[in-house]
Amino acid sequence: MELDVRPMRLEETSLVIDYFHSSTSEHLEMLGVDPTRLPSRDAWASMFDAQYALPLEERRAFFLIWLMDSHPIGFSSCDKIVFGVQANMHLHVTQPALRQRGIGAQCVRLGVDVYFRMLQIDQLFCEPNAFNVSPNRTLQRAGFRYLKTHITVPGPLNFHQAVNRWVYERQA
Ligand SMILES: CC(C)(COP(=O)(O)OP(=O)(O)OC[C@H]1O[C@@H](n2cnc3c(N)ncnc32)[C@H](O)[C@@H]1OP(=O)(O)O)[C@@H](O)C(=O)NCCC(=O)NCCS
Repeated sequence: MELDVRPMRLEETSLVIDYFHSSTSEHLEMLGVDPTRLPSRDAWASMFDAQYALPLEERRAFFLIWLMDSHPIGFSSCDKIVFGVQANMHLHVTQPALRQRGIGAQCVRLGVDVYFRMLQIDQLFCEPNAFNVSPNRTLQRAGFRYLKTHITVPGPLNFHQAVNRWVYERQA
């Protein structure tokens, strides 16, 4: 099994839209996502078009695709990007059968390098729902440091919830 992580191409972004739109309400609940806040497929595709037309320094979001033996098996994304300073990451293995096999932790580690290099950041944060075990365990395994648990609305798709705040910092 060979894993690869690289910037997602525009023509690959349907992976993200399909993932959220085909998720069960239980899965969205675990992610802390409010289904009523998901953009329609067309609106979401237009948002991707607009983002990809911008230079990296001006994008509000940046996506990496996770590949296993050249097949897409997941993705991570950054938002709240302050170029050259920090960003917030999200992580997803899209096929349930491939979860809990070590892929997430390895792809997060590979992705950290790409984010730090391309966004020129010093800090990468991640704020999974506090009750969602898999990302919290995965971030710890990938070398993130736990900061705190607090209640917030972590992103535009999310509802008000308890999250754990983790950080990965550039090594001196
Ligand atoms: C979060 C996610 C990307 C992690 O990827 P993964 O491939 O399942 O994680 P790994 O197999 O690399 O597991 C890493 C560690 O977490 C543990 N873990 C992962 N899921 C777990 C679960 N549901 N329960 C208990 N432990 C879990 C693994 O046992 C492993 O532990 P270790 O450090 O002791 O070896 C994946 O589970 C996923 O897509 N989940 C659904 C989407 C989601 O919740 N995303 C988070 C939104 S912020």
